[in-house]
Amino acid sequence: MPTTGDALNATQLDPRDGDAIAAWASSAQELIDAATTQAELRDAKSEVFGDRSALVLANRMIGKIDPKERAVAGQNLGGARKELNRVFEDRKALIDAQAQAEVLRSEGVDVTMPSQRVPVGSRHPLELLIGQIEDFFLSMGWQIGEGPEVEHEWFNFDALNFDADHPARQMQDTFYIDGTTVGGVDEGDASLVLRTHTSPVQSRALLEHGAPLYVAVPGKVFRSDALDATHTPVFHQIEGLAIDKGLTMADLKGTLDHFSRAMFGEEAKTRLRPSFFPFTEPSAEMDFWFPQKKGGPGWIEWGGCGMVNPNVLRAAGLDPDEYSGFAFGMGLERTLMLQHGISDMHDIVEGDLRFSRQFGLYGKGR
Ligand code: FA5
Ligand code: MG
Repeated sequence: MPTTGDALNATQLDPRDGDAIAAWASSAQELIDAATTQAELRDAKSEVFGDRSALVLANRMIGKIDPKERAVAGQNLGGARKELNRVFEDRKALIDAQAQAEVLRSEGVDVTMPSQRVPVGSRHPLELLIGQIEDFFLSMGWQIGEGPEVEHEWFNFDALNFDADHPARQMQDTFYIDGTTVGGVDEGDASLVLRTHTSPVQSRALLEHGAPLYVAVPGKVFRSDALDATHTPVFHQIEGLAIDKGLTMADLKGTLDHFSRAMFGEEAKTRLRPSFFPFTEPSAEMDFWFPQKKGGPGWIEWGGCGMVNPNVLRAAGLDPDEYSGFAFGMGLERTLMLQHGISDMHDIVEGDLRFSRQFGLYGKGR
């Protein structure tokens, strides 16, 4: 144990008595060397060098002794102080080094420790599919477009030649929106919907780029449909629009045949049957034969298509006598179903990682 400060300070030191000073200095040195922490060293410092220390008191006595003895007394005290300072600095360096080493040890990072692993997620197969489809259309020289999911009723319906009383505008099909902002722009009191198809991007792309135009637009769409094996209220479509001089229905069929072979392979069976859309004339729908269809093999509708209605061209400021074109909109969930024999759409929308992981990071077999 270090000598207590009282014992040390109680010593009445005569500055002329070299032996007494040496003895005191040696116990002061023991006190300093006994300190093992910075706090203990601070205490020892105030006992040895502080205002009440024997060293300071003895120093004050020098003025009162015989002037002839002052030089010796000064040397005695000065020598002791110098030596104790050195002892103190050595001790301080040692304790500081130990404290520093402790900080390094306690705050150190052991890079060999096993880490808490964050499970790696997976890209959703729809994202992979969208990438493949974009590659397909880019390879044909088309451009990729996009449009807002919250859309003007005008773009979603009016610009596409829907009558004001068309049944698709009814509340049971369309989600109407209270807000007034489209793509971050305040649209005042415009009527807004969650787009029910990707077709509004037809008009947007035409207004933005003019003709000729070859554009493919993948995107999310919304309808108040119930979830079943082939329907979900939030799904995806790939819109295609080709506007040029002299395009015909044969170009439409050739493009869709080429697209379906790229998606499903040569063996896939598709058929084109007449249909109706306000924005195309004539209109058709393409079905694919689906061996894994729930309830037994059968046709499933893949998407709608047709020759762009002249009214749509006019709404985009084009002359229908100069330009013609075709458009189509295919369901992406259904594309995925045929590609992988998924008989129930629930698997695609539920977001179970065990489902997504099967497709790998880049998609299977492509
Ligand atoms: C349309 O949405 C038209 N805009 C397609 C079109 C574009 C026609 C360009 C002409 C020119 P339809 O409502 O049939 O058409 O939907 C197209 C495809 O989306 C369907 O064939 C189907 O594959 C998919 N689809 C429709 N509703 C759902 C749903 N609830 N869940 C999943 N997929 C759906
Ligand atoms: Mg349809």
